[in-house]
Order: sequence, then structure tokens, then C-alpha cells
Amino acid sequence: MTTPLRLGIAGLGTVGAGVVKIVQTHADLLARRGGRPVVISAVSARTRDKDRGVDLSSYDWEDDPVVLARRDDVDVFLELMGGPDGPAKAATEAALAAGKDVVTANKAMLALHGQALAEAAEAAGRVIRFEAAVAGGIPVVKALTEGLAGNQISRVMGVMNGTCNYILTRMESAGLPYQTVFDEANALGYLEADPTLDVGGIDAGHKLALLAAIAFGTKVDFDAIEIEGIERISIDDIRHAADMGFRIKLLGVAQMTGRGLEQRMSPCLVPASSPLGTLENATNMVVLEGDAVGQIVLRGAGAGEGPTASAVMSDVMDIARGIRVATFGQPATGLQDARPARATAAAPYYLRIALEDKPGALAKIATALGEAGISIDRMRQYQHAETTAPVLIVTHKTTRDALDHARAGFAKTGVMVGEPVAIRIEKL
Ligand code: HSE
Repeated sequence: MTTPLRLGIAGLGTVGAGVVKIVQTHADLLARRGGRPVVISAVSARTRDKDRGVDLSSYDWEDDPVVLARRDDVDVFLELMGGPDGPAKAATEAALAAGKDVVTANKAMLALHGQALAEAAEAAGRVIRFEAAVAGGIPVVKALTEGLAGNQISRVMGVMNGTCNYILTRMESAGLPYQTVFDEANALGYLEADPTLDVGGIDAGHKLALLAAIAFGTKVDFDAIEIEGIERISIDDIRHAADMGFRIKLLGVAQMTGRGLEQRMSPCLVPASSPLGTLENATNMVVLEGDAVGQIVLRGAGAGEGPTASAVMSDVMDIARGIRVATFGQPATGLQDARPARATAAAPYYLRIALEDKPGALAKIATALGEAGISIDRMRQYQHAETTAPVLIVTHKTTRDALDHARAGFAKTGVMVGEPVAIRIEKL
């Protein structure tokens, strides 16, 4: 009989329960594919007496995940609790120190402590795998570390927060304002316990930071990501963007430039007909660009029991098969410090400016753009309220410095009402 691979699972929420279900229902398939049975020795969660829809009676129970992580009958510790610090980090460290491999879905922990944990894993001769931490069921970590291992990666992009994509696409399809759809998403259980993680772009930023580390061989540098959430996106912007052939997405982009690593997570306009533009509801999409392969697009469910458990199991199966890939695709001690660079690459921008409805107002705005060296591609004015006129402008490619210059010019015109909205347009 081949030696089984023995799992200890900490965290029995949606993902943990999903993993237990796969181990139970696909036992034969996993044993055939992994070359050895995959079994669960023990589990741990905050509450023991709770119906999770799975039979846990044949597994030992541990109240303390750190104790679970150190058990002699655990080969792989599955950290499925979440949270950047606290029990998740303590148990992960304990597991590595006790000589266990670790599989985790915890993007926040790795985005903040990934380098130290990867070094600890290496020192202990163990691996940390985290397919489930990025874009749920999409095998993007594997695609980058293995499928594209022969490529120089030039750019990683993606819509990696399903909740934000749900909110933005629902606002558009139902013509509803942000707050109404936010409340709907909350009622559907889409939002994280701290909704800012989703709508503030932080959750997606964690994921981007992890992909950037693999793609560019740099230490994870979450703090360097320029992050802007979707809270300020109005139904007007969504409608106007649609009118001009665009859709608004919370888009993450990481690219290595001569000045350093650019990482940003922010609302962007993308062509409605592009792959990212067609992305509906809570689906995720990741676009990878390599010098040999060109562009590849991966699309799928970014959250939920089945998709996330599927990703956890892909890591478990690698370990069962004896495939041992370094946390970020190369030895952690060889990862370079990411030299962060402000994203300065020129791009077209969408501007929405509310103007006082009086003669010469629009001319003043056009002059401010001209003085900043910004050329107008398209311009529209919509039916307006009694005293203000909303004006939409799509610029030709321009830099953020020029845009800042123009904004300062707008402020001096004395015809602007409120703050202008500026959203970058990504041509894909
Ligand atoms: N809250 C995330 C999302 C899933 O909406 O995509 C977990 O990262």
C-alpha cells in the first residue's frame, strides 16, 4: 500500500468544507492521479458544533490550529482560516518549523508576510503553495510558475475581485446607483467581513502583489501598489462609458519598466468588446503576457466553495505527486527587491467635468487641456440640470503629470462645479 498523503485542515468555512467534500467524493480519482491516497487526519475551526454539510466524524478535532499544524500524522497543513496575522500566520509558521508543507488560500497573509514565510519554508526544506489565494478556481499561479516558466513576463493584468465586478456590471445592467448594488451584494453574502477589502481594491491588490512577485522575480511589495477602489464610480460614469463603447473594471496591472516595477489596482475603462470588457458578474479574468507565448487570457470563478477548493486541491495534488515548486517560482532568497515605480506610462483618459452652464465655460476647459499639452479625442455634453452641464472628454494619450497640470488649470477657470472625475483607459 502506498503511503497516504495526510492533511490537517485548519478552517472549515466555505473553502475548508469544499476541500473535505472533494477529498471524500473523489478519493479514488485523487489516489490514481496522485499515485497515493489523500486522506484527512485532523481538522480545526473556531466552532466545533456546527453543521457544515460534511461528515467530519472520522477526523480528529483540534481546537488550536497551531497544535494541528504540529501533529505527527499531518504531512500537509492546509491553512484555510484567513487573516493576515493571528492564528493563520502562527499556525503556518508552526507547520513549517515542524517540517510540514503548507497549502493556503490566504492572500492577505502572503501579500504582507510572503517573503518571510517563503524563506522560512525554504530553510525548512518545505513548500508553501497558494493557488487558491489568487483568482479562486483559475489556475493562474500554476500558469505563471510552470506553464510560462520559459517566458520573460512583460505584463500581468486582471480583474481579480468578483464582488467589484458584480457591483459594476449590475449597476450597468440594472441602471442602479452604487450604494443600492453594494447593499444587494452585501445581502447576497458577496462582501468580505470588512467590505473595504473588496470595494477599496485591497483584496485584489493582495492578489496582484503575489502574481507580480512570481512574474518578475521580485519580493512581494503590496505597499507599493497604487490602489484606488470603486467607491467613487457613479452610475453616470458607467452609462457614459458604455455610450462611448467602454466598460469600467477594477483592473490590476503590474509591469516591469526601465524605471522599476509599476503596480496599480484602479478603476479603468476598457473597450466593451475586449475580453475584459465582456466580463460579467463575479467572474475573474487574468491576462498574462510573455515574450515567447504572447498574450494568454484565463477566465473563471474567482470565489466560492467549489472553485476555491478546486485550487487548494491542485496544490495538494502537486505535493502528492512530488512536484515541489518554490513559493514564488524561484528560491525566495534570490528574489530581488522590487524597485517601485509610479505608473507614468501615457494613456488616454476619460474625464467627466460638471461645468457652470454659461457662455465660454467649455472653452476655458478646452484651453486648460491645451495648455497642459493634452489633445481631445472625443467630447460630449449631455442633457443638463438647471445650472450645471456635465461634459465628457476622451483625451488622446497623455501622462498623469500632464493630467495633474490640466486639473490645476480646471480649478482656476472658476467654471467647474465639484471635482472632475478622471479614469484611465486601457487599450488591450
Ligand atoms: N472577496 C473576493 C472576491 C474573493 O470578491 O473576489 C476572495 O478573495
